[in-house]
Amino acid sequence: MKILITGANGLLGQHLVNELLQQQFQVVATGKGPCRLPFEPSEKFSYRSLDITDELEIEKVLSEERADVIVHSAAMTQVDECEKNPELCEKINVYGTTQLLVDAENYSKYIIYLSTDFVFDGLFSPYREDDDLRPVNFYGFTKMQAEAIMHTSEIPWAIVRTCLVYGNPLEGTRTNIVSWVRESLQEGEPIKVVSDQQRTPTYVEDLAKGIVLMIQKQATGIYHISGKDLLTPYEMAMRTADYFSLDKSLITEVTSETFTQPAKRPARTGFDISKAVKELGYSPSSFEDGLKQMSQ
Ligand SMILES: NC(=O)c1ccc[n+]([C@@H]2O[C@H](COP(=O)([O-])OP(=O)(O)OC[C@H]3O[C@@H](n4cnc5c(N)ncnc54)[C@H](OP(=O)(O)O)[C@@H]3O)[C@@H](O)[C@H]2O)c1
Repeated sequence: MKILITGANGLLGQHLVNELLQQQFQVVATGKGPCRLPFEPSEKFSYRSLDITDELEIEKVLSEERADVIVHSAAMTQVDECEKNPELCEKINVYGTTQLLVDAENYSKYIIYLSTDFVFDGLFSPYREDDDLRPVNFYGFTKMQAEAIMHTSEIPWAIVRTCLVYGNPLEGTRTNIVSWVRESLQEGEPIKVVSDQQRTPTYVEDLAKGIVLMIQKQATGIYHISGKDLLTPYEMAMRTADYFSLDKSLITEVTSETFTQPAKRPARTGFDISKAVKELGYSPSSFEDGLKQMSQ
C-alpha cells in the first residue's frame, strides 16, 4: 500500500514516515521545500516537494503518485503566528486542505486529516469525539473549518484529533513542551509554566502508531488519539525535571494571566481516548514512559 504524507518534515511527519517504513509500507513523503528526513531514497521511500498552497503542484504530485492513502499533516501550527497572520493561516490550513481533498478524491482512496484539541473551548475535559466544536483562537478556527471540509469528502475519510505532541525530532530543532523544559533546565535557565491549563500530552511515536492502526483498519470518522494522562503544563515540567534529574527550583508555577500572548489558549482540553482504544487497539504510553523513550 502506498501512503503519501503532507508536512512530512514536521515532528509528526518524521515519525510517521519512520513507523510506516518499519511496517513495510511504501511511503511518499512530501513537504514544503527540500527533504529534512533522515532516510535515503529507495523502493519504499521517496520525497517530493509539495507546498499545499500551490494548487498546480498538488494536482501534479497527487496525479503522478496515485497513493492509496493520503495523511494530511501539513499545517501552519504556530498558534500565535496564526493569530497575527490570519490570511496566511487560512490559506495553508483551510484552502490548502480544500485543494488537497479535491485531488485526493480524484487520485486516492482514503484520506486522514490531522486536527487538534484546539477546536474545543477548554471549558471542560476530557473531550469526546462528538463534543461541540467551539475554538477560542484563529488556529483552532481554521482546523475546525478544515474538519468541515473533510466531512464533504467523496472518498472514505478520517479525522485524527491529537493534543500537545512531544518527542525528539529525528532531524531539526523544533521544540515541544518536554524538549523546551529539558533544554532550558540543562542550560540553567529559569522558566515559568502554567498550572491552570490541562492537556493529555501525546508521545509522538504513539501518535504515529495510532495513525498506522487507522490505515490498517481503514477507520473512518473522528478519533481522539493522545496520551492517557491528564496533566497541567506545570506538572509536565516538574515530571520532566524529575525524570531527567534537573533542577526543579528553576521552574516557577504561574497562571495563564501572567502571559500576554496574541492567541488565547483553551484552558482544559485533553481527550477521552476510549474509542481509539476500543476500536483500533490503540495503547498509548504513560507520560513517564514517553520521557523514558525520549531518553533512549
Ligand atoms: N504538535 C502538536 O502539539 C499538535 C497538536 C494538535 C494537532 N497537531 C496537528 O498535527 C499536525 C502535525 O503537527 P506537527 O506537530 O508535526 O507540527 P509541525 O512540526 O509544525 O509540522 C507541520 C508541517 O507542516 C509544514 N507546512 C507548513 N506550511 C506548509 C505548506 N504550505 N505546504 C506544505 N507543508 C507545510 C511545515 O513545514 P516546515 O517544517 O517547512 O515549516 C511542517 O513541516 C498538524 O496538522 C497540527 O495541526 C499538532
